[in-house]
Amino acid sequence: MSIAVVNEIKSLREIVKNYRKEGKTIALVPTMGCLHEGHKSLMQKAHSIADVTIISVFVNPIQFCPGEDYDKYPRTLDADKIVAESAGVDVIFAPSVNEMYPGLQKFSDLTMVVPPYELTDIMCGKSRVGHFDGVETVVSKLFNIVQPDFACFGMKDIQQLFLIKKMVRDLNFPVEIIPCPLVREESGLALSSRNKYLSDSDKQIALSISKAIFAIRDLYRAGVTDTKKLFDAGLTNLHKNVELEYLEFVDENTFKPVDVVKSNTICAIAARVGNVRLIDNIVLEV
Ligand code: PAJ
Repeated sequence: MSIAVVNEIKSLREIVKNYRKEGKTIALVPTMGCLHEGHKSLMQKAHSIADVTIISVFVNPIQFCPGEDYDKYPRTLDADKIVAESAGVDVIFAPSVNEMYPGLQKFSDLTMVVPPYELTDIMCGKSRVGHFDGVETVVSKLFNIVQPDFACFGMKDIQQLFLIKKMVRDLNFPVEIIPCPLVREESGLALSSRNKYLSDSDKQIALSISKAIFAIRDLYRAGVTDTKKLFDAGLTNLHKNVELEYLEFVDENTFKPVDVVKSNTICAIAARVGNVRLIDNIVLEV
């Protein structure tokens, strides 16, 4: 059966209802499209654990801050269909903005799901104020629309994954969150839809971001646990044209900064190459 593309919530609910009647389990992979191998790994995981795989492709306006790339974010639904079909996806849910937020004039009119301030006033949330409110709100809506058994999220967006796991616990969403490993290019660069914005020379510069975190990993494996020393090692590996936003070491369970690294501490980085904001991270293990 070929892949179905559904634009309306009502039609999707009808399809989901029929799958449920047949006793099928459902896995959801929320995305903003411009699908790459990182997304594909999530869809393959979903396909391996549930009878039916549904992905959403929706560039969610309420998670972009003023001045960010909402307008130019790549929208490539035809190509996305091919990637999704090759990963065993059954249904693509690709709603319009009006379908998801009917008649919305301004974001402040909307009922929002807001994660705790102390978990968003750090790392990506610090510069992207309100971003995670937009993410949690749209993901809640998708959970309510699809009511999946499983939902797959990538460790590429490690703070997002942490906050969604917490939201599911705090609000009792009946869904199991499946974390999926970060996928990289052979060069080491973390795959991202935003890599499309990078020129060849910028890409070379961006490579120093993953080099920096690999240098930190190697030093940690060699026995260094002091985050100041690890931070400096990361910094020396960053290309001079990379503008660092943050390089943090946080506890995997609390996302609080640590001074001394132990197994499973997360080292996360955000940086700009020209106008392009990139993120990467590694879970430090010996
Ligand atoms: P998007 O950036 O399209 O990512 C969709 C999913 O793919 C996320 O769970 C993300 O962590 C995962 N992903 C992206 N690049 C990856 C990589 N290199 N390796 C592994 N997983 C990767 O994240 C979003 O969209 C949005 O915030 C969304 C959750 C859809 C809400 O709008």
